[in-house]
Amino acid sequence: AEIADRLPLVWLHMAECTGCSESLLRSATPSIDSLIFDYISLEYHETIMAAAGWQAEQNLHNAMQKYKGRYILMVEGGIPHAESDYFLTIGAHGKTGQESAQEACADAAAIFAIGSCSSFGGVQAAYPNPTNATALSNITNKTVINVPGCPPSESNIVGTLLHFILYGTLPALDVYNRPKWAYGLRIHDACERRGRFDAGEFVEQFGDEGAKNGYCLYKVGCKGPYTFNNCSKQKFNQGTSWPVQAGHGCMGCSEPDFWDKMGIVHEP
Ligand code: SF4
Ligand code: SF4
Ligand code: F3S
Repeated sequence: AEIADRLPLVWLHMAECTGCSESLLRSATPSIDSLIFDYISLEYHETIMAAAGWQAEQNLHNAMQKYKGRYILMVEGGIPHAESDYFLTIGAHGKTGQESAQEACADAAAIFAIGSCSSFGGVQAAYPNPTNATALSNITNKTVINVPGCPPSESNIVGTLLHFILYGTLPALDVYNRPKWAYGLRIHDACERRGRFDAGEFVEQFGDEGAKNGYCLYKVGCKGPYTFNNCSKQKFNQGTSWPVQAGHGCMGCSEPDFWDKMGIVHEP
């Protein structure tokens, strides 16, 4: 497709680990190459763009001017904000992450928070949150679509983007502004070990006979019953596997404040 036909995308990195970008790069349908050559024009993405330094900042500035009101904004990472915003200071101009994100939000056609960091604050917002990191939705008045997960699967990131490209509208959302098509069901609802749960067959301790036999991981901390996401159906890495298949319970990574709230082991 011609560049003019492709949707301009600006991807900003705030306080984060780049796991969400890594997930994006594993897109299978379409592949990341096809996504970039046929559907979007990736104007700015610090991990994979060729430009560096002043040139990179100039590219970002130019893209936001040229596609004012038309570009899609995706933000990865929590945002140290208010009087602590200087904890994230980026680039030669010494702008804070909060300033960059607010500027980019102002002229974006649609805004997506990719990952639990930008959706809800994430790991750096966990207690005691020394940098005062917060969700993207707390630093802009515009609507933010949250695509949480630590990281979210490539299919949830790309699916959300393609929905906007194909329909030109925002998807139906749940109470946390997550797209319902991806976050409408609990992990527990479609888990391959659900039969074990219903039969009362539980792993009591990692490495025991139950673990070897694929029993339910609830007693060793699985948070699947409290977590809304589609991992059990979509999986990760092009459908290769997902946490429970790999033998570890869900830790609720697509729920707000999961670092602080999901640490408790419940008894069934
Ligand atoms: Fe990394 Fe998780 Fe934050 Fe994504 S949501 S940037 S994977 S810590
Ligand atoms: Fe539910 Fe977790 Fe057990 Fe799967 S492993 S059935 S999600 S409690
Ligand atoms: Fe996260 Fe649980 Fe899926 S930990 S990756 S929501 S299985």
